[in-house]
Amino acid sequence: MKTLTKIGLDAKKSTVLSELLNDLLANYSVLYQNVRGYHWNIKGDRFFELHLKFEELYNNLFLKIDEIAERILTLGHVPNHKASDYLKISAIHETHEVADGLFAMENILFSFQELLNKQRHLLDLADEISDEGTSSLMSDYIREQEKMVWMYSAYLDK
Ligand SMILES: [Fe+2]
Repeated sequence: MKTLTKIGLDAKKSTVLSELLNDLLANYSVLYQNVRGYHWNIKGDRFFELHLKFEELYNNLFLKIDEIAERILTLGHVPNHKASDYLKISAIHETHEVADGLFAMENILFSFQELLNKQRHLLDLADEISDEGTSSLMSDYIREQEKMVWMYSAYLDK
């Protein structure tokens, strides 16, 4: 017989989902710090435009980091909060003192693509166990970031 969690989901698969959400949390956390660095260190004639754009993005990521962590708790597991673990786990790597706006935009674009792949995988697994809460969170993030990929690509003329 299947063991169920407090919210009535398959316990084993909720554990797998929580592990993947912790992986996602690590990636968001590294990206968040990268984007804070872009906001601070950017230089050049696009400074005012990109300084604001990066602030908008890190605030967006900050909200998602909290939502992901609290989804892990809702599934009955513990969100990882250690920066040292994030760096070991994350597929998105730390960047250092980036002053070039275009490099920062390229890095953000690559990071969105990483997040989209991970979130699509999570969405598939969440759908398998009718975990509507995780599914709707993932589909909201996917839709929003697909649009951002379009906009960042348009900015970079790619
Ligand atoms: Fe600021």
